[in-house]
Amino acid sequence: MTHTTQQLIVGLHERSYPIDIGPELLHRTPLFQQLPQQLLLVTNATVDALYGDRVRQALQHHTVVTHCIADSEQAKGIDTYAAVLDTLIQHSFNRDCAVLALGGGVVGDLAGFVAATYQRGVAFYQIPTTLLAQVDSSVGGKTAINHPGGKNLIGAFYQPRAVLIDTTCLASLPQRDYVCGLAEIIKYGIIADRDFFTWLEQQAPALMARDPQALQTAIQRSCAIKAAIVAADEREQSTRALLNLGHTFGHAIEAEFSPRWKHGEAVAAGIMIAATLMMQQGRLAAEEQQRIEQLLQQFQLPTRAPEMSFERWQTLMQRDKKVQAGTVRFVVPTAIGHAQLEPWSDWQAIRQAIVSMSCANPMTR
Ligand SMILES: NC(=O)c1ccc[n+]([C@@H]2O[C@H](COP(=O)([O-])OP(=O)(O)OC[C@H]3O[C@@H](n4cnc5c(N)ncnc54)[C@H](O)[C@@H]3O)[C@@H](O)[C@H]2O)c1
Ligand SMILES: [Zn+2]
Repeated sequence: MTHTTQQLIVGLHERSYPIDIGPELLHRTPLFQQLPQQLLLVTNATVDALYGDRVRQALQHHTVVTHCIADSEQAKGIDTYAAVLDTLIQHSFNRDCAVLALGGGVVGDLAGFVAATYQRGVAFYQIPTTLLAQVDSSVGGKTAINHPGGKNLIGAFYQPRAVLIDTTCLASLPQRDYVCGLAEIIKYGIIADRDFFTWLEQQAPALMARDPQALQTAIQRSCAIKAAIVAADEREQSTRALLNLGHTFGHAIEAEFSPRWKHGEAVAAGIMIAATLMMQQGRLAAEEQQRIEQLLQQFQLPTRAPEMSFERWQTLMQRDKKVQAGTVRFVVPTAIGHAQLEPWSDWQAIRQAIVSMSCANPMTR
């Protein structure tokens, strides 16, 4: 295995930070030498059993307290948030400490919000271990917890000081979680990079085999696209919304069918609805829509949404943060490599796209 580490920078002036990507970084990253003495490692029991000791070993000259949260989306809530703060306070952590998130998006979002709010903000480091977290949630500074009234309702934009992506961690990831990350990777190709999409088509078998070299390239290009979008629009005033391709539909599926449907699976079906909507409007070539469908299929992702009444779709979509005064704003792909955010009030067209892309048993295809 090669030991090449690639570094990207998220350019946010005085808050700029590096993303290091490479195999076996947990063993050998120079980042660990630069950390403050007092460290809180937030993780869950699954990830702790796999990688916790490796990180603590690499940090043996530091004072490390580990806080394990439950392994579920439910852990991303107010009670767990309060419990992590209790740990910081009980161990007299001061403002010079740092919070390290070791895990998937659940751990990263929660630990980031803890770091953003403890003593008005302490240093935060992301060590993402799922593919979704490595290409998406660990980059860009969105931190949040859920409220019974909705997902991610409480949060802050709070950038990490660094993101450490150890690609070796992906070897232990369950297949469903792995392909969920691939859905977000396809998203980057569709919204921003046609050549990357073509490369993904060529590398699909290698990526499904978790070939380390192909994976490192896919992660590096995904993070580069996300970093550029975040640098241009940190607080989602404009272009950052493009990262939500397929998500308005996907969130509706998740709201109704989670945990049976995982985020990446719902996004995959959502991307197909968005592409089909554009194709039916004559604004996306049929061959492009088919290429998107074929790539999702190669990655064993669902390309059809589960059946739901249109009234239910409407209700769920209108809860989405991107809805203003009854008009939905969708990210629509107009070509592979190009998407835009558009207000949309033609619900009949949406209905048609949803109906064409729904079936009774989409997960079995
Ligand atoms: N902040 C953002 O910008 C952003 C973006 C997208 C998603 N998210 C959030 O991310 C969360 C989903 O993240 P996720 O998909 O990473 O899910 P997750 O954190 O629940 O992780 C998925 C599963 O994989 C396990 N796991 C993690 N790393 C592993 C490894 N290397 N080997 C074996 N198992 C491992 C976890 O314990 C868990 O069971 C959601 O809460 C979502 O809202 C945030
Ligand atoms: Zn997503």
